[in-house]
Amino acid sequence: MAEKESHIKTTLEDTNIYPPPEEFKKNANINDPEIYKYAEENYEEFWAERAEKLDWYEKWDKVLEWNPPYAKWFVNGKINASYNCVDRHVENGKGDKTALIWEGEPTDESKKLTFSELQDEVSKFANGLKELGVGKGDIVTFYLPMVPELAIGLLACARIGAPHSVVFGGFSPKALRDRLQDSKSKVLVTADGYYRRGKKLKMWENATDALEGADSVEKVVVVDRLERDDISLEEDRDVYYHDLVEDKSTECEPEKMDSEDMLFLMYTSGTTGKPKGVVHTTGGYLTGTSTTHKWVFDIKDDDMYWCTADIGWITGHSYIVYGPLANGATTIMYEGSPDYPDKDRFWQIVEKYGVTVLYTAPTAIRLFMKWGKKYPERCDLSTLRLLGSVGEPINPSAWEWYRDVIGSGKCPIVDTWWQTETGMILITPLPGLTDLKPGSATRPFPGLKADIYDAGGKSLPANQGGYLVINRPWPAMLRTLYEDPERYEQTYWSEYGPDVYFAGDGARVDQDGYFWVVGRIDDVLNVAGHRLSTMEMESALVDHEAVAEAAVVGKPDDLKGHVPVAYVILEGDRKGSDELAQELRAHVGKIIGPIGKPAAIRFSEDLPKTRSGKIMRRILKKLEAGEDYGDTSTLRNPDIVEQLKSKLE
Ligand code: WT7
Repeated sequence: MAEKESHIKTTLEDTNIYPPPEEFKKNANINDPEIYKYAEENYEEFWAERAEKLDWYEKWDKVLEWNPPYAKWFVNGKINASYNCVDRHVENGKGDKTALIWEGEPTDESKKLTFSELQDEVSKFANGLKELGVGKGDIVTFYLPMVPELAIGLLACARIGAPHSVVFGGFSPKALRDRLQDSKSKVLVTADGYYRRGKKLKMWENATDALEGADSVEKVVVVDRLERDDISLEEDRDVYYHDLVEDKSTECEPEKMDSEDMLFLMYTSGTTGKPKGVVHTTGGYLTGTSTTHKWVFDIKDDDMYWCTADIGWITGHSYIVYGPLANGATTIMYEGSPDYPDKDRFWQIVEKYGVTVLYTAPTAIRLFMKWGKKYPERCDLSTLRLLGSVGEPINPSAWEWYRDVIGSGKCPIVDTWWQTETGMILITPLPGLTDLKPGSATRPFPGLKADIYDAGGKSLPANQGGYLVINRPWPAMLRTLYEDPERYEQTYWSEYGPDVYFAGDGARVDQDGYFWVVGRIDDVLNVAGHRLSTMEMESALVDHEAVAEAAVVGKPDDLKGHVPVAYVILEGDRKGSDELAQELRAHVGKIIGPIGKPAAIRFSEDLPKTRSGKIMRRILKKLEAGEDYGDTSTLRNPDIVEQLKSKLE
């Protein structure tokens, strides 16, 4: 693990407390506080009852097999995720209900698919994938913008038992290539391009670049989003999506999958340069995501639910696609940017579809705050009844603004803490039960146990900052890291023993048992809700011929939570300049993707190092935050810290 920080900032502030509005409470899916006690005392039965809400081909013989740190849920159960998200709703008479609403960035483009239509589209694509040679167990990589084909594609893969691996469309060719190689994907599904802020952005160029050296890829499916005529396909390898699905049958029998078969892989940044392939399986994941979706978002049959995340991240997997569709809910996906054609686009969408439940990120809320009330005030937001937040700690002022301006003071806010690895929401209010405190994700979901440990593994008393841990397995937990069980054990289950999940976040629990998550304590940055590895950025920097050494740390930022700042030592007697800084930023952008670009490059002759030569990133982090950096006497070069500090001032 990365070096631990001995002091995690904790303040005991007075906060407003918001109990659930009476009306909301009365009608909420979950409004009996006994649920916590029940789930606590009957943990496995509790989850088994939730799993029974899904349709299984064969029931499990055992709810949980826990050989720390390896879990199996619903052992020997047979199930298909695509069937559960699509077909069963059609069979239950909901075929004409809208399943998926897609809103393109151009205001005149949108699409609605009913569950029956979704069933047809998913089956056609599944048959298309089969024709390309994809079978059970073959990994299919998606590198797509937010187009309906992405949601359809995940379900098509799930239908035929082919695990998917979605790579966020904003990642670079290199990032895509690494992930294709690591997963040995046979098929890549990508697009010619997409719309962003009214411009046509290219995607095909990145995809073809990534394919150089990604030798496992035999076939490429291209979604013709922009109808570009300037791209050329390789006849034996590439096929347009519309050509592939055109003549396919709308019948495709779902594969009977084992509960523990891999449903998907999702790469995420860790503390080393190599991304981790987080493995999620079928039965438990679907049980966990559908239950939390229904309870946390209080989903009813007539809800219009919109999660603004990108399906390229876990939030989109669990709470745009699998959770909502398993519940037969209507789910909305939006292709574009929140400020196109104007800064009221989100609110236009809420008004257009009568959105009732909105799930977004603090970084977006802070941006809306900065843009001002006039944008939401232009639109009718009266249909909203519940608001959600995810991805990073939400500062109480943004929380209050979200509640007052977007929710007109009447909507509960669910601040949900979870991770790519957890698959499902773990710490969260239940909106019909929980008294809310702005900035706190409140309590563990029923049945779950979370705690705060000190470095030695002792559970800490109220209001002392420490490390967030989860003390029980849960159904949607990651099962391993793809082809790297050692890293799985080492990263999550070695800090405090094999039955304590180490989340990598600093947090405290207050006197009322409420969790306050501060943020990552390792070398992972959370930039505008996106997870980036400082190590990945550092290797991208030293990859440039001018750079001898680099250290990247997060600097607190009002809008994005944190932004990466790079300290750079140049090769030989090269001198830093604005041009070189731009070049280095662009270089990192090229290697990782635009979201990885450092906000600033700080050239320096030297960096604070221990006697053994390790860069003390912790000190750089403190400098950036303007905090006291403590004792530097054990450094090899203590003077450098003062020098760096004076340059920052
Ligand atoms: C990290 C996980 C899972 C959703 C998207 C991010 C931070 C997430 C909260 C929250 C405070 C939060 C944590 C966590 N985080 N939600 N409600 N309050 N921090 O997934 O990329 O895997 O990142 O996001 O630091 O470890 P991810």
